[in-house]
Formats: sequence, C-alpha cells, structure tokens
Amino acid sequence: MQPNIFLEGNFAPIPNEFTLTHSADFEIKGKVPKDLHGTYYRNGPNPAYPAATKHHWFFGDGMIHAFEFNRGHVQYRNRFVVTPTFKMERAAKKNLFFNGALSPLTNLQLLGTDIFSLMSNLIARSNADVYTRLLTKANTSLLLFREKLYALIESSPPLKIEAQTLATSAFAEFGVNFIAPFTAHPKIDPRTGYLYGIGYRVFGKERLLFYAINPSGKMVARTAIDIPFNAMIHDFVITQSYAVIPIFPAEASLSALRRGLIADWKPDKGTHFFVIAKNGDIATLRRFSLPACFVYHYVNAHEEGKTIVIDAIRYEKLPLMSDDQTHRAELSGGENPGRLARFVLDLTSGKIEEAILDENFAVEFPQIDQRRVGEKNAFHFSAAFGNGDFFDTQLRSEIVKGKVRHETYRFPTGHFCGEPMFVPTGKAQESKGYILNIVYDSHAERSYLAVSDAAKMERKPLCEIYVPHRIPYGFHGVWHGQRSQRG
Ligand SMILES: [Fe+2]
Repeated sequence: MQPNIFLEGNFAPIPNEFTLTHSADFEIKGKVPKDLHGTYYRNGPNPAYPAATKHHWFFGDGMIHAFEFNRGHVQYRNRFVVTPTFKMERAAKKNLFFNGALSPLTNLQLLGTDIFSLMSNLIARSNADVYTRLLTKANTSLLLFREKLYALIESSPPLKIEAQTLATSAFAEFGVNFIAPFTAHPKIDPRTGYLYGIGYRVFGKERLLFYAINPSGKMVARTAIDIPFNAMIHDFVITQSYAVIPIFPAEASLSALRRGLIADWKPDKGTHFFVIAKNGDIATLRRFSLPACFVYHYVNAHEEGKTIVIDAIRYEKLPLMSDDQTHRAELSGGENPGRLARFVLDLTSGKIEEAILDENFAVEFPQIDQRRVGEKNAFHFSAAFGNGDFFDTQLRSEIVKGKVRHETYRFPTGHFCGEPMFVPTGKAQESKGYILNIVYDSHAERSYLAVSDAAKMERKPLCEIYVPHRIPYGFHGVWHGQRSQRG
C-alpha cells in the first residue's frame, strides 16, 4: 500500500458508531456551562472502505458527530451518513466507486442492481443528474434550515438527517423535484430567511447554477451562469443585495476524478468573480477578473458604498489536490499556507483588488456569528497552524481598517483542532458566547470537545469533554440552539 496521509494518524477512519448518554461515558475536565443548550453537529470523511490506492480525504463516507447539551449534561453519538453509495459499498464490503479506476463500464458493473433504479429514474426524470443521488458521500458540512438538518457535499443535493438519531432520511427536493449538485456552503440570509446555493457540474450542460430557496423551503430562483472553464467551486458569499460566486483556476474534470482528485491547477485560466443580484436575474450578472489564486472558504462579505468587500482564506495555488508528498508538506510543513485576505470589488469602475491581511498565521475554517452573514461582522474565528504542524491553535480575529488583531489560544503540544464553532449568547457584534472545537489528543489517542469562552479566547477551555475514542479530523459543523429542557 502506498503511503497516504489521509489514512494515517487522526485522518484515519474509525469503524464504530457510539451512543454515549451517561456522565460516566465521558471524562470531563472543567465545568460544562449550564447555559449551553442545544446540539453541535460536525460532519467529516470517515471512509468505511477506503480505496486501496489514491484515497483522498474528500472522498470518505460522511460521519456525523453530535454533542448534545442540556443544563450541563452532555450526550454524544456518531453515525455514518447512509447514502446510496454507502449502502452499496457496505453490501459489497469494499470500495466500489473511488478506486482510481472510475470508467463508465466499471461504473455500470458496480452499480449492480442499482442500475435498474438509475435507469428508471433516468427515464422518469429525463435527467442525468439522478447520478448525483447515487454517487454521493455527503461528508462535508451540515445545514440547519427550517429546523431541519441536512448533510451536504457539493456533488449532490442535501441529504436530510434526523436530528435526534442521526438516521439518514431523504434527499431535499425544494418543492421542485430538485436533483442537481448543491454546494456544501449554502448561505441563509439572516434578514429574510432565504437560503442561497450554487451547484456546479463537470460535464453536461449548465456548468454553474445559482439557486434561491424561500423561507417556506421552495426553490424560487434557478439561474445558469456561463463560466469560461469547468471549475471546482467550493464556496461563495452573499451580501444584502448580491451573491458573489468566485471561480479559481482549479479545473474540475472526469480525468481528475479518475486520478483520485477533483481538479487540476491551471493558473493561466485566471480567477473570476461573478456578481449577480440575489433574485438570480441574469441581466444583473457582472464579472471581475484577476490573476490566479485559490480560495476554499470565505469569512464573510458585505457592501460598502459601491464596493463589495469579501474576506477569505487565500492560497497562492490550489492546495490538497496533488500527490501524497505535497499533501504532507501542505498539512504539516506549512507549504502553500492559507492567508486571511480581502478582495474588494468596485461596482463603479469594474475593478477588483486583493490584499493579504495577515502573514502571521496559516489559517482555515473561518466562522462568524451567523446573524451577520452578508453584513459587516466584528469578529471571526478560525483554526491556525501555531507551531507549523497542523491546526493546533484557535483564533478570534478582528479586522479594523484593514489591520488584523488576533486573540489566540494554542492547545497543548500534540493536541490538534478543527473548525471553531461560535455559539453566541449575546447580541450580534459581541463576542459573548462559546467556541466549540473538536480536539484530537495524540498522546491519549482520544478526542475531546473543547468549550471555550469566545470573549476570552486566550484562556484555556472552560471544559474538555473527552470521549473514549478518536474523532477523525473533519470539516464543518453547525450549532442547533434549543431552549433548556428542565427535568
Ligand atoms: Fe468547506
């Protein structure tokens, strides 16, 4: 077996699903805040049957970890996201689809009996997108929309998850029989309750689509946007009036998928920001172009006069999309670091400017108070490389007049974190609240949920809730706040 960082250490999957309901199931250091009520859900790849060669982090089965809080009492459970792909692979007891030999013929063979369901769906729907529901891992993020929980990946529609049991339910259809790819980073406008999304395809027609879903859950806008090449498009932003969909020269293709990747770095193709009114009116579409760079995630965006200001984690080139040696250098050697950067789009002149705001930290997984999506936010939180070997630090950052001020907390040596989730307990624009972060303790070979005071980030966590096992490094989470249940 070739060396593969994505199957080593805390990238390696765990096989078991646990349900921990008693205090004795946990080791808790410190005190769990009693005013933390609700559930923190986090999704991430956990391949049940990793591909023998060319397994990539982005292709593992989804596994959701949930920590539920009620008046200081904690419960935990983790469950695989049971997609059609997962069911097929579990029945076959092996990886079927992402084995580096993806071809139409093997695909048809591997689909086995599911080929009938695929064919009947193809005929019934006359749409090749039925593929997106069969071949999905739903491993990237979670969406809480209209009090319902969904597991997301950018290649398929949202997949509903039962919030209490984490049982996998049906794909979202948004009242319009929706079956196309849908981003893992949709945006809920906190002012209107509308949900905005994008979707991209690597083949077929309409390579980029913009969607608006109203607060009743119905898709009310679907706009195809012409793009100059097939880009891997992971995230986008909204402001009060606009959606901005940047594309970077990460060219997505079936050829890359066959090599166990999604996209190839083609810097000559440049970076292009597409701005469209949030109602999806194609007549409002504008394009801003600049030289090559890459962004997986945005902090937020807002309008300032006749400009759009977008904060992002910017890379010089596409990371995590090459060979094992390069992935190691990027994940533990500080190569091609993610930097906090700002893009400013001038709607009058049509010009775009970019600036790196901070060279001190390599950062990722930015999070804000969700009540400030699309408006100027006072603070954001992120995971950082403090010591240079993976995420061992969480930051609260404030950008004032283009200057950045951090409050930092570095976890103990050998402890590695992920996305910091902000749970506000005060008004928007205050940092009052908690930061939740799943931390891997490499000495104990166990993980814990660190609960920190967001207003005092430099202090050690208020509590560390250890589970008896490792929680593999994952991607994104969501907080579902609830009222206190007495009893
Ligand atoms: Fe992401």
